[in-house]
Amino acid sequence: MSQSTEQMSRRHAAIPGMGPLSGGRAGAIIGLQWGDEGKGKAIDLIAGSFDAVVRFNGGANAGHTVVIGGEKHALHLVPSGIFHPGTLSVVGNGLVVDPSVLIRELDTLDAKGVDTSGLRLSDRAHVVMPWHKAEDEIREKLLSGGSGGGSIGTTKRGIGPAYADKAHRATAIRVRDLLDADTLRERVNRVGAMKNALLGALDDGFTPFDADALFDEARAWGERLRAHVTDTVYLLNEMLADNKRILFEGANATLLDVDHGTFPFVTSSNSSGLGIHAGSGVPGRYLDSCMGILKAYSTRVGGGPFPTEQDNAVGQRIRDRGNEYGTTTGRPRRCGWLDLVAVRYSAMVSGATCLGVMLLDVLSGFDELKVCTRYEFKGVETERFVPDASDLAAVTPVYETVGGWAEEIQDVRSFDDLPDGARRYIELIERATALPVRLVSIGPDRTQTILRA
Ligand code: IMP
Repeated sequence: MSQSTEQMSRRHAAIPGMGPLSGGRAGAIIGLQWGDEGKGKAIDLIAGSFDAVVRFNGGANAGHTVVIGGEKHALHLVPSGIFHPGTLSVVGNGLVVDPSVLIRELDTLDAKGVDTSGLRLSDRAHVVMPWHKAEDEIREKLLSGGSGGGSIGTTKRGIGPAYADKAHRATAIRVRDLLDADTLRERVNRVGAMKNALLGALDDGFTPFDADALFDEARAWGERLRAHVTDTVYLLNEMLADNKRILFEGANATLLDVDHGTFPFVTSSNSSGLGIHAGSGVPGRYLDSCMGILKAYSTRVGGGPFPTEQDNAVGQRIRDRGNEYGTTTGRPRRCGWLDLVAVRYSAMVSGATCLGVMLLDVLSGFDELKVCTRYEFKGVETERFVPDASDLAAVTPVYETVGGWAEEIQDVRSFDDLPDGARRYIELIERATALPVRLVSIGPDRTQTILRA
């Protein structure tokens, strides 16, 4: 990494309100909407002042984009701290890891000259096997029943079926199992036979997996990853005991949390801040700051209610300007106005202590902007979010209309230099959430960032 980039990350790290920098030891960056908020950029900006960046949930359904010097890096499993030499990148026990994706990502980073030796992979993380991806595909097809109505709209990365096997226990394969040929052989044979029977019963067109070929593939994964595998729970707790600083990198976001999101249109892990402890083995007492990340508007991929969705020219303008197409699946994202009822709820659940507002530049050029500050639900106005999907589908958003700004703002570098409309927009977010906005992103590059005291 160039010295200037290193210096910049140190400078950017001085974000007031991020506790680890004011005496605490662990902080978190968590998405407050339905994912794709720009967490990768925020994490990359401050990662340099932490000793480890830790993923604790999800798998290759996540897509974090980091742009450095105009070069775009798309990460699905490798933590976004990988670009900071000296900072460990930890894949915690709470993840479901598709080794083929992880290896491809490491190979790509290696080829670009990025040092990946700091990657640590939990021996207890669960493995996404090819049968999980096949099952994800088959379930979505069966649930959609032709109309698409009953499916979740998953990323088809095998996330749900892999977490289901974690809960089933006997049919799960963990990273540590990849390292032991006898265990792996037994698991692949036994579980594989069961999966072939189950998937064959669900889908006539299913082609059974060949246990020998799968064993060879999984064994090769283990060998490629062996040097990175460790007990990350002891690693992290020992780092904290040694006064090292840790940043938790949330994936997928609060409204997709399996317990606290818009169930059933959620992912299969605790993707809010509440998942940090179980997914990393780090107890709650260490965590003293959490930057909640939101876009200046709202997006959603996949199915599920979305009260402020604009399936019209407004939504299309946001999609075009924000390049709102999935990093993982390439799907066009659904776009709409900022929903502060949802953000307030997410900030509460994830324990946000400050906010980062991303993609503010996308809203340049609107004469006026709408922001949802309340819902009308069952004939009554409320400030409360209703996470159940059928309830959320029944709310009507109540908007405040505010003036926009005409100017492009990608080259602005201080809050005071933003157009009046943009400053007022940020201040409205602060008032509605009672949280300070410490970071405003006005373009994809590291340099296109405004930090606020
Ligand atoms: P799954 O996680 O692939 O099972 O997908 C469940 C739902 O979560 C689908 O609506 C996905 O589109 C959504 N989802 C999962 N991960 C992400 C993410 O990182 N960003 C945005 N949406 C996501």
